[in-house]
Amino acid sequence: MKTSLSLSRISRRQFITTTATAIAAPTIIPASALGANGRPAPSERITMGVLGWGMQGPSNTGSFMRESDCQVVATCNIDKKHLEASVNEINKKYKNQDCKTYHDYREMMARTDIDAVMLAVPDHWHALIATEAARNKKDIYGEKPLARTIAEQQAIVRAVQSNKCIWQTGSWQRSERNFHYAAEIVRNGLIGKVTKVEVGLPSGHHDFAGTGKPLLQKLAQLPEKVDDLAKVVPGTPAWEVAVTQPPPELDYDFWIGPSKMEPYIQARSHMNWRWNYNTGGGQLLDWIGHHCDIGHWGLGNDDTIGPLEVEGSGEFPAKDALWNTCTRYRITCKYPNDITMIIAGGHPDIRDGTKWIGTDGWVWVNRGNAFESSHKEWEDTRSLPEEQRKVRLPFTKGGHWRNFLDSVKTRQPTVTPVEVAHHSALPGHLGLIAMLAGRKIKWDAKNERILDDAETGKWLTRNYRAPWKLG
Ligand SMILES: NC(=O)c1ccc[n+]([C@@H]2O[C@H](COP(=O)([O-])OP(=O)(O)OC[C@H]3O[C@@H](n4cnc5c(N)ncnc54)[C@H](O)[C@@H]3O)[C@@H](O)[C@H]2O)c1
Repeated sequence: MKTSLSLSRISRRQFITTTATAIAAPTIIPASALGANGRPAPSERITMGVLGWGMQGPSNTGSFMRESDCQVVATCNIDKKHLEASVNEINKKYKNQDCKTYHDYREMMARTDIDAVMLAVPDHWHALIATEAARNKKDIYGEKPLARTIAEQQAIVRAVQSNKCIWQTGSWQRSERNFHYAAEIVRNGLIGKVTKVEVGLPSGHHDFAGTGKPLLQKLAQLPEKVDDLAKVVPGTPAWEVAVTQPPPELDYDFWIGPSKMEPYIQARSHMNWRWNYNTGGGQLLDWIGHHCDIGHWGLGNDDTIGPLEVEGSGEFPAKDALWNTCTRYRITCKYPNDITMIIAGGHPDIRDGTKWIGTDGWVWVNRGNAFESSHKEWEDTRSLPEEQRKVRLPFTKGGHWRNFLDSVKTRQPTVTPVEVAHHSALPGHLGLIAMLAGRKIKWDAKNERILDDAETGKWLTRNYRAPWKLG
């Protein structure tokens, strides 16, 4: 079991201490090893390997590199350009050439001198990489949603628990004051008994990578004049234009990994993999780990209680369309104690963000420090009198990334441990299954299985492409 830092690190620290005592001339120990400039000595820093350098990887890594007791020592990527950009950025920050590069995450995970890893890879890779990290006793900062399927999420939870790893999820809204304040108001019963929670998420598709636009410009030249990538299907001239050779810097076979092999289409690789169910889960699963996570926090449903019934309807492009994820959706989850949660995208009556409605009032919260409520004084003060804070939700000191590093040292849970990430994403996964099945599903929250419906039960998992296996 880990105590403070891993055994290998403790040995390393002991080695440095012993050496420093035994050798008379202190000049042979580099100044940096003694913690020059107020920085903890290298032997006292949390060593980290980072995976993924697209939309989220650089910002997570930047946050960790700003913490003086963390040292990023390795970076892994299957895209040579991303790998190069990451190692350059890391070495520039530390003014050295020490960061090692890896193509295969298994080699990086095998390093015993790495304490922690930051995972910012597409959703279809979460389970394999996170379980490999856990088996290698790494503490893990992993992105939301926990995984692409419920079975994969369960595998991550088991691996993290059995290896006693610290886990922090990228659900960073928990480390923002307005979300914490709103959830505490609800948890302390100030809006009375909660009857409804509204979770408003984005709809449609968004061309994050900017790779959809140039493709659409080409498609506009075709006689069919295709104006939406959700309308492009195999066997059409538009599809022929979309499919190209992968660029030489990208190991596309590795990138597809455990998912079904598909021809390379730039507009659904980096960043835009979200809009293809082979690799992502659309807006619903991209955002469930944020606003539903906050909804559960207020309800106190973090790691024990799940929805009991889930039904929903959505608008889906053709299954094999280039962008095929649901564009508009409305999901109703029934929780114990007569609480209903509505999760919706593209329905104007459900506002973006999280709103709890109770018998004595309501609270709504969103990004950008947004907060509204039925009680004007809550909006004015933005803090609860101490006597009303009978339930105190943990608040991170110094931010979400700092919270992870503190937990690595203290071995206390982070503000979004793995069980929380699992439960936050469950309503999204179950909602998607209910929409695809076109019927209400009953969820056995204790045993985590779909009741009386063998057909939909199959969608809790997915087939892996050989040779990949979830261990
Ligand atoms: N917390 C947040 O606010 C937030 C915001 C954006 C994205 N995310 C999450 O971060 C994760 C990454 O999303 P993104 O938008 O940055 O994706 P992206 O496509 O922009 O970047 C993914 C990176 O992972 C690399 N990669 C892919 N497979 C790999 C493998 N097997 N081994 C090593 N590297 C691999 C890619 O080359 C790329 O550098 C997703 O889970 C996403 O949901 C979270």
